[in-house]
Amino acid sequence: MTSNKTIVNSWNEWDPLKHIIVGRADGTMVQAPEPAAERDWPEHGFPLGTYGLLPEEMEVRANEQLDNFVKILESRGVRVDRPTPVDFSQPVQTPDWKQGSMFGCMPPRDLLLTVGNEMIEATMSYRSRWFEYLCYRPLLEQYFKDDPNFRWEAAPKPRLSDRTYKKDWNIKFNALSKEEQEQTARDEDFITTEVEPCFDAADIGRAGKDLFIYRTATTNRAGVDWLTRHFSNHRIHMVRFLEPAGSHIDASLTLLRPGLALSSYERVPLEPRMKELFKKNDWEIVDCAEPSADGYAPLSFCSRWLSMNTLMLDEKTVCVDAKEVKQMEQLDSLGFEVIPVPFSDVNAFGGGLHCATADVYREGSCQDYFPKQIQGY
Ligand code: ARG
Repeated sequence: MTSNKTIVNSWNEWDPLKHIIVGRADGTMVQAPEPAAERDWPEHGFPLGTYGLLPEEMEVRANEQLDNFVKILESRGVRVDRPTPVDFSQPVQTPDWKQGSMFGCMPPRDLLLTVGNEMIEATMSYRSRWFEYLCYRPLLEQYFKDDPNFRWEAAPKPRLSDRTYKKDWNIKFNALSKEEQEQTARDEDFITTEVEPCFDAADIGRAGKDLFIYRTATTNRAGVDWLTRHFSNHRIHMVRFLEPAGSHIDASLTLLRPGLALSSYERVPLEPRMKELFKKNDWEIVDCAEPSADGYAPLSFCSRWLSMNTLMLDEKTVCVDAKEVKQMEQLDSLGFEVIPVPFSDVNAFGGGLHCATADVYREGSCQDYFPKQIQGY
């Protein structure tokens, strides 16, 4: 039986939100080492080469905060779906590689890219995340049954063989000074090669006709190229920031509403043309407020810039991590209604409020927010 109901529709980061996926912390791993991710946290029980479940008490607290976030969203009239975790501690393999464990399904944003009536399962570029789409299949199958216009897509699964990664890149990177590491970002020297398209969905910021794609360790040039060809009715802008070994746009550039974006002030944009494009179209890029933390939280691979990892409920309403007092004050003074959401216990599971969600439905259609384009960009 098919119905005529539109389930999937979302063109940007700020139209009125009606339906969203919120991840789960269940069974999240400090993943087994692989070329793209090697954790080395001896002070917290995970020295290089070891792996295992994140501590149970952390998982319980993270799930409490995620459940509370769901309640807040529901009280605002947003329908919430949740993924179905699989056993992430199991080893996985393809004909090309064997990987000691999977990762988790807290950050659906990393995996699912919604553009209009389409959802794409991203290629992902970690072996530990290659099978993560399975957690979302029950939802995607249901949307496909219920919504005759839903375009369910999956990008070509990358092989992620040893040819996809530069040999010993991590060892070389770790031996560099801070300045030298920054130079790798300027030189666009990341662990991934250009053998095949790779991208994480969280590297894409959506603004109607314009899609901003963050060139990172997780999204290579071939990935940008694949997305450019796939979204031939959109304008694709490759953007770069001063974030060595970086990934995911939502801790470097946050699109808040037409005409306003936040950026992490130490991660300057490396593409002057990005600034020019925003300026030409009367968009303001504001430096985000000072984050509450000054380093990485225990067992977390996400930086303090998760402070700006916010979720818009509509153009005027923004969910912010409750510990980010300065960020809340700044957004308040920019005219937003700020909803504080306690979320710090979730960060180690893969991110902040934007990472922890994936859009299913926002009202609205595809609009042009950057009508004045810049030649050759
Ligand atoms: N690389 C980012 C940082 O640490 C993490 C962004 C997390 N975003 C996400 N969608 N998982 O600043």
